[in-house]
Amino acid sequence: MHTLNPDRLPRHLAVIMDGNGRWAKQRMLRRIVGHQRGVETVRLIVEECSTLGIGYLTLYAFSTENWLRPKSEVTALMTLLKKYIRSETPRMMKNNIRFNVIGDRSELPPDVEREVTDALTQTASNSGMVLTLALSYGSRQEIVRAARQLAGDMAAGRITLDEVDETLFNGYLYTADMPDPDLLIRTSGEMRISNFLLWQLAYTELYYCDVNWPDFGKKELHRALHDYQARERRFGQTSDQLQKRS
Ligand code: FPP
Repeated sequence: MHTLNPDRLPRHLAVIMDGNGRWAKQRMLRRIVGHQRGVETVRLIVEECSTLGIGYLTLYAFSTENWLRPKSEVTALMTLLKKYIRSETPRMMKNNIRFNVIGDRSELPPDVEREVTDALTQTASNSGMVLTLALSYGSRQEIVRAARQLAGDMAAGRITLDEVDETLFNGYLYTADMPDPDLLIRTSGEMRISNFLLWQLAYTELYYCDVNWPDFGKKELHRALHDYQARERRFGQTSDQLQKRS
């Protein structure tokens, strides 16, 4: 592995962890075994991102659409999430990681919600990497929720129409306190956003790789980060403009 430039790491890395089911199918195993192996990858990538000094890592763990999967798979995923959060909280404390969740938590089973609340409380004062799990998360739902809250605040006279701009709107999103992702990785060869962080990904660099999530490891993560470091982020400007400013 070539060394990464520590000054040019993404401040915020977002990941769509895809391909657990296919990984299992290729091995004639049950889908849930793919998810179990996926959890191992989560452990590895969280540890590595924290060691590298990435500020924010956001993982798409369960979408609003995932509730439509067979009940047995939903239950198994919820059990894995609960166990992961419970077993990883001590390691988050050790590594100074602050746990965070985005999504509609009211939909989570009470036992999962309890683990979430416990981990949020325990890690609240940690000052290292912010690990965000997107749970029961859908970006369109997030945007509609933000619009409703904003409209409510306006109807109540707390804000005026003239105050509404991107910064104000951003403040109503689940991600209000986070910078936008610099890099989005999606595994398993699919090239879709799948209702993930639609507003926040406006200028994010996208990286797709063919490896299924259970096979994604340090080597693949470093490859993605190298690829990111070789890119020029123009934010709508020209290359010349950027060079003049630096
Ligand atoms: C996509 O694979 C993955 C998911 C729907 C869930 C991701 C969940 C995990 C990695 C495990 C639990 C997470 C944590 C944070 C402990 P897929 O089932 O869509 O795969 P397929 O497209 O090949 O069927």
